[in-house]
Amino acid sequence: STNALIDPFGRRIDYLRISVTDRCDFRCTYCMDEDVSFLAKEQILSLEEIVYVAKTFIRMGTKRIRITGGEPLVRKNVLWALEQIANTAGLEELTITTNGSQLKKMAHDLLNVGVARINISLDTLKADRFLALTRKDKFHQVIEGIEAVAKLPFKRVKINSVMLNNHNDDELYDLAKFALDRNMDISFIEEMPLGVITNHDRAETYLSSDDVIKALSEHYTLTPSTMQTGGPTRYYHVEGSSHKVGVISPHSHNFCDTCNRVRMTVEGRLLLCLGNDHSKDLKSILRQYPNDSDILEKAIIEALALKPQQHHFNLEEAPQILRFMSATGG
Ligand code: GTP
Ligand code: 5AD
Ligand code: SF4
Repeated sequence: STNALIDPFGRRIDYLRISVTDRCDFRCTYCMDEDVSFLAKEQILSLEEIVYVAKTFIRMGTKRIRITGGEPLVRKNVLWALEQIANTAGLEELTITTNGSQLKKMAHDLLNVGVARINISLDTLKADRFLALTRKDKFHQVIEGIEAVAKLPFKRVKINSVMLNNHNDDELYDLAKFALDRNMDISFIEEMPLGVITNHDRAETYLSSDDVIKALSEHYTLTPSTMQTGGPTRYYHVEGSSHKVGVISPHSHNFCDTCNRVRMTVEGRLLLCLGNDHSKDLKSILRQYPNDSDILEKAIIEALALKPQQHHFNLEEAPQILRFMSATGG
């Protein structure tokens, strides 16, 4: 049944993002409030359940899976689940998105269990700003983690930087250089209005991808690249480098018409779109009919029919989506 995963708008959904925990050792100001509360153990899927869902999606035609959080590497025994998923026939690529805090000790294990690509969040190269943005004093730990990854033969590594006007926009070039110098790509991300945050006003800190590209063009000769990693990044070739800079522009260049993905939260909620609340509860199905893959497949196909055409992010209004990014994994 490899053609099962087509949505009502004809988009082939062959990419699944799985959040393996809502917990995180950071408290990034654009992602969550400082006094965030996390889910209780009874509410979340076991790693066995997560692997079972992943294998079901792969059997139905999913080619790429990205593991996210919260911070995925703080979930106990996550390497076991990664290895199970990576070794499932039919999967072309297992990737992970991480804040980097555990990479110094885990980079090697990630390579060994079969993770192909790693995306690492890094919004600043200044330790004091890092503390202000993440509310944790772990800048040097993250840099050491990135250096550990740089030494290993991953297929690709990408830095993700959420750009906030008047917070880190003066570091655009330094961040790009940091990534390119380490044979990594970099995506500059427009902040999305998920969850109500109190630390800054998202309308005021908005920085458009066009401004990002304009500023970087003072340092680099950039030309649009056709490289695709399956995600929303629009890449640019950098003259003199074999690595790319890119932008993710949910506000200024909506990419919903080419969306190829759905995501599952650690509660087993299948979310059809990051910017909408359409979802299907897979946990209750997993618990009511354990090991009945026909019922699970049927539920997944029913869920795809709920996928909306696009998100409608609006920075001027209170966010329509009250769930925080950490619950979704981006
Ligand atoms: P690859 O292209 O596979 O490297 O991954 P990616 O860039 O899609 O994934 P990553 O986890 O690094 O996410 C980078 C940013 O893209 C995060 O801010 C995500 O929230 C955002 N993003 C990923 N998928 C979507 C999507 O479907 N819609 C929106 N609006 N944002 C997305
Ligand atoms: N808007 C855009 N990106 C966000 N991230 C977290 N919260 C937001 C937000 N509100 C980023 C993280 C990480 C990626 C998974 O999503 O910085 O790089
Ligand atoms: Fe944690 Fe990532 Fe959210 Fe930062 S953006 S608090 S690292 S989940």
